Amino acid sequence: MDYQILKTAEADGILTVTLSRPKALNALNSLFFKEMDDLIASVARRPELKALVITGEGKAFVAGADIAEMVGMNSAEGSAFSKAGQATFNSFENLEIPVIAAVNGFALGGGCELAMACDIRIASSAAKFGQPEVNLGLVPGYAGTQRLPRQAGLGNALYMLLTGDLISAEEALRMGLVQKVVEPDQLMPEVIKLAQKIASKGPKAVRKAKKLARAGLLSGFEKGCDLEAGEFGTLFGNEGTEGMKAFLEKRKPNWTMEKAI
Ligand code: CAA
Repeated sequence: MDYQILKTAEADGILTVTLSRPKALNALNSLFFKEMDDLIASVARRPELKALVITGEGKAFVAGADIAEMVGMNSAEGSAFSKAGQATFNSFENLEIPVIAAVNGFALGGGCELAMACDIRIASSAAKFGQPEVNLGLVPGYAGTQRLPRQAGLGNALYMLLTGDLISAEEALRMGLVQKVVEPDQLMPEVIKLAQKIASKGPKAVRKAKKLARAGLLSGFEKGCDLEAGEFGTLFGNEGTEGMKAFLEKRKPNWTMEKAI
């Protein structure tokens, strides 16, 4: 599928996706969701990819769901629109490879929700975060009411959800909503460096760590521990054995050799 909104570039197993609809501050419309669903399916079919980076073109990461598209909807259409968006973001979150949001500017409403569906968020000091739906008489529709309390804590989440205030990148860092804030011109170099660092680790371990951290939050501590023990075991006689041997032999692990062990 040819994309009109998503621009992709690839180097060393790292796929960079740039949302490019800058005139509308990259607002998420139905074409975006079509392209995003296609992109997610194609990434899932490519086990050789090691990480995905997502960012926005211009002064916004994403300024929210497209208000012009939503305004004419009735109640049933609104619910269906929310469900479909949630499903796309859930599939995105469930990609096996790590996903890093490079938040370059406004991350509002659906944009903050998209960033939260990523594994790690690095923000430019120029970024602004917010769930301003209450200003429109709405609530978030792409799981913002669910991910924000889990990522920033209930009090911080309710502060954002109830006031609709935009917060600075530094404030988002304090809340735990982002993991690092960098100068605008350092955003992409820092994020690519981070993606490369993760890409150099055991690829199976990276995927499993991502899956386990999320699974435990959903299923509870004990079930999460059971899952962890199971996955821990699968790395023996496999990538983990190569990593441990490499440590003891004082050499770099050869992750592509693990199948031979
Ligand atoms: N949907 C559609 N168009 C949008 C948009 C959005 N979410 N956000 C910005 N735009 C459009 C503007 O309408 C404007 O278009 P025109 O040039 O054709 O008039 C263009 O992008 C530039 O925007 P502004 O002129 O407003 O730019 P600004 O710098 O003055 O303000 C802003 C920037 C503070 C981000 C402001 O655009 C704004 O408040 N945007 C709306 C943010 C918002 O409410 N987001 C939540 C949407 S609802 C949602 O996301 C629900 C959900 O969870 C599913």
